[in-house]
Amino acid sequence: MFPKISHTSRKVGIAHFSVLSILIQSSKILAHSQKSRKTSIIAAMSTTPLELSGKKRAERVQKMFSKIARRYDLMNRIMTAGQDIHWRREVIRHAKLDTGDSLLDLGAGTGDLAREALRQYPDSQPVAADFTLEMMRVGQKTGPLDWSAADALNLPFPDKSFNAIVSGFLMRNVTDVQHALKEQYRTLKPGGRIIILDTTKPRPNILTPFINIHLNYVIPFIGGLLTGEREAYTYLPDSTKSFLRAEELAVHMAAAGFKRINFDVKMFGTVAIHWGQK
Ligand SMILES: C[S@@+](CC[C@H](N)C(=O)[O-])C[C@H]1O[C@@H](n2cnc3c(N)ncnc32)[C@H](O)[C@@H]1O
Repeated sequence: MFPKISHTSRKVGIAHFSVLSILIQSSKILAHSQKSRKTSIIAAMSTTPLELSGKKRAERVQKMFSKIARRYDLMNRIMTAGQDIHWRREVIRHAKLDTGDSLLDLGAGTGDLAREALRQYPDSQPVAADFTLEMMRVGQKTGPLDWSAADALNLPFPDKSFNAIVSGFLMRNVTDVQHALKEQYRTLKPGGRIIILDTTKPRPNILTPFINIHLNYVIPFIGGLLTGEREAYTYLPDSTKSFLRAEELAVHMAAAGFKRINFDVKMFGTVAIHWGQK
């Protein structure tokens, strides 16, 4: 429960140089420029999305998810020992949809939450939206669902469109959490529900060393093995550690205008489900 919310150019002087010294100097400059180019290429490759901001970070996140799309769902099941299935069921239960109600699965990836919405509420109208085409392409092969290309920071939907907006492991990826929450608030109908499932920065506890081994070594190792993209799975623990604590996300939700905010933590405090209402 969250109580309060109801819980530099170096100039090279060549005037006094002989032809030989000019040649030596030129080769040094060339070697230096090649070295710095190599260094900057290596630096660009080893930069994690978290060291970037704005559009560049979003592009890196998109590329990363494009590369792991094919194995994304399998990795989820393995990393969470199948628990993510139960969390998704819980998220959709919180949506409390009526017949004909609309639901937006934002940052839907392959569309697991939207599919769960159809399973629990067969008469509902879920839309799965994401900004990474590869993830949606994989999802399209899984079965019929309405899809939309959408950026969480600039939703292509009119105000008051949805009865519920759900997201699974999206919010820690967006470059501006507050803005993403405001967009969801704008596109929800009055009384509409927001439900957020994401990893959360765990509070230090007796299990912290084991959690850190799982996050920092086990997940990157298995992720690298299964997807060939170890970076994506070092990004997961890094983005979790730099994301908000569950209480902080609740405060951001309140600042965006949501009421009746509440949350529940899972998996030794590393995952949280938040819900609230417009
Ligand atoms: C970790 S995956 C989660 C997928 C799915 N929701 C799930 O529960 O497994 C995060 C997804 O969010 C998407 N995403 C990240 N930033 C986004 C943004 N600004 N707008 C839309 N989608 C975004 C990524 O493309 C990726 O598919």
